[in-house]
Amino acid sequence: MANIEITKTELVWPGKYNEDGTRKEVERVHLPFQVIETVNETRATRERKKAKAGTFFEVWDAKEGDTFEEGWKNKLIWGDNLLVMGSLLEKFAGKIDLIYIDPPFATGADFSFTAEIGDSDIEVTKEQSIIEEKAYRDTWGRGLESYLEMMSARLSLMRDLLREGGSLIVHIDTRVNSHLRLVLDELFGKDSLINEVAWCYGGGGAPRNYYPQKHDTLLWYTKNENWTFNRQFRPYTEGTLERGLTQVKGDKYKLREEGAGLDDWWAGKEVQKILSPTAYENLKFPTQKPEGLLSRVVTGHSNQSDLVADIFCGSGTTLAVAEKLGRRWIGCDLSRWAIHVTRKRLLGIENCKPFEVLNLGKYERKYWQGVTFGDKKKSDQQLSIYQYLAFILKLYGAEPISGMQHLHGKKGKAVVHVGAVDAPVTIDEINACLDECVAIQQKELHVLGWEWEMGLYDLMTDAAKGRGIKLVLLNIPREVMEQQAVDKGDIKFFELAYLEVDIKQEKGRKILLSLKDFVIPNTELIPEEIRSKIKKWSDYIDYWAIDWDFQNDTFMNGWVTYRTRKDRTLALKSDAHSYEKPGKYTVMVKVVDIFGNDTSQAFEVEVK
Ligand SMILES: C[S@@+](CC[C@H](N)C(=O)[O-])C[C@H]1O[C@@H](n2cnc3c(N)ncnc32)[C@H](O)[C@@H]1O
Repeated sequence: MANIEITKTELVWPGKYNEDGTRKEVERVHLPFQVIETVNETRATRERKKAKAGTFFEVWDAKEGDTFEEGWKNKLIWGDNLLVMGSLLEKFAGKIDLIYIDPPFATGADFSFTAEIGDSDIEVTKEQSIIEEKAYRDTWGRGLESYLEMMSARLSLMRDLLREGGSLIVHIDTRVNSHLRLVLDELFGKDSLINEVAWCYGGGGAPRNYYPQKHDTLLWYTKNENWTFNRQFRPYTEGTLERGLTQVKGDKYKLREEGAGLDDWWAGKEVQKILSPTAYENLKFPTQKPEGLLSRVVTGHSNQSDLVADIFCGSGTTLAVAEKLGRRWIGCDLSRWAIHVTRKRLLGIENCKPFEVLNLGKYERKYWQGVTFGDKKKSDQQLSIYQYLAFILKLYGAEPISGMQHLHGKKGKAVVHVGAVDAPVTIDEINACLDECVAIQQKELHVLGWEWEMGLYDLMTDAAKGRGIKLVLLNIPREVMEQQAVDKGDIKFFELAYLEVDIKQEKGRKILLSLKDFVIPNTELIPEEIRSKIKKWSDYIDYWAIDWDFQNDTFMNGWVTYRTRKDRTLALKSDAHSYEKPGKYTVMVKVVDIFGNDTSQAFEVEVK
């Protein structure tokens, strides 16, 4: 081990330096974004693109411009923010005006979300996504150093994304305050800490042997000079209102209409923590912050049309506030539940500007395959694919088999086929598997896939039945890419859910759609306490949306309905949609269930 020459005061942790004493580089991985959904956008405003073979989603091509006038669309990104930020760099390095983050605090706790079920207000508390547990529990479990490793890499990318003079506001509590502050000092320079704001709140218990912890800290760092600061005011206290300012400051000081200038501690009802379970704002997302707090952050540190980002966005508080205050925004979270809650929250904002939901999809998976199983040399590629197949089969509890072209494994009486990371499972692929099943007289086929060719479900289930084979289609969950989730044995393969609709045509080229059934096949994977509360199939549905003219690329949200905290009912019939021209159309229906999982199905209609 080389001798490290200590030349400055800094925080060190195991893993910060390489063996030769050089600082470990943060990998800046660039992957293309896929647009998986657009919201509040008319198809006319969008360039029509022909889908590339085998690709479901458009790749984001960054041609929309940088202002709302040029067609800028706000962005909600589902994925690990390390890869997401790496991929944002190409277009957004030095472009973001304000980044606010409320990251995990290394509490060691398991956070849970509350899924509400059906029309009533029955609630069931569920463990939050496996990946998020890793961020909260496992990192702490493996020691502070892994938390610091995780955060310092991300903070360094945030610095690259900020414009000169841009602000970073890091929301933390006492557990990691000192550590993160030193990491930030090193990245930004210690004079770049402009304020440490205490956010004070009430509520909660009162311990007997120490002071109750009633504040969090916002560390405000800037990237060089010329930062934005819009002075804000708070209402005067009752005491000040009664006596005026005169006693303190003399006669010439009158109470200002706008109130008292904000100090570096924030308290009071404008920023009160969300305490009541029935509070209007409460989305039952653990660690959700109040809009009042974010309103101060966004107002104080950005201007109209500025670009604001929150890459640990949770329930989307920052994004909702940025939207309401006319800022452009980018949000990111790795939890499927967070993305779903945020999407609903934004949809509920009156005149919410168009936004898109993105992920790194097959590119992230290909990257993961390369990193995990190695594909550096061409000659090793086959080996890397075998290792990938063996890995997925093991997680599924299947044994690899050899000598077959399409069948990769065996589980009990069934043979198993595993789809590639970078392409949807196709009808041809399943037909080839069925042929092999017939040739070796197998009666049950399980197919595991990341994505599926459109229209495959009905076609293949019938085709398999016709050949006397039981076909089971299962989704490979995103969590297989998380070592921690794998190590804990938390991987569950859910069968594809199935939905039935009824399509009615009316005069004037009108189409009306009703949901008729929604089936989640593996109900045994659903915790008993949830299952016992489900009374009808529609109780599983939290949200559904329609793309009236699906173009084989991004899902365009043309009509949507969903349950909210206030209104638990769910319409099972859509509004009528009028087509301008007669013709054949593909109607895509997307259902999001109470676990935040998507099921999409396409239906062909001929409009006369
Ligand atoms: C404290 S919560 C944020 C709450 C948010 N401020 C709100 O008001 O709802 C932290 C969020 O970070 C997300 N998260 C943790 N690790 C992440 C990662 N590596 N990439 C993206 N999001 C992550 C979690 O899923 C969680 O939603």
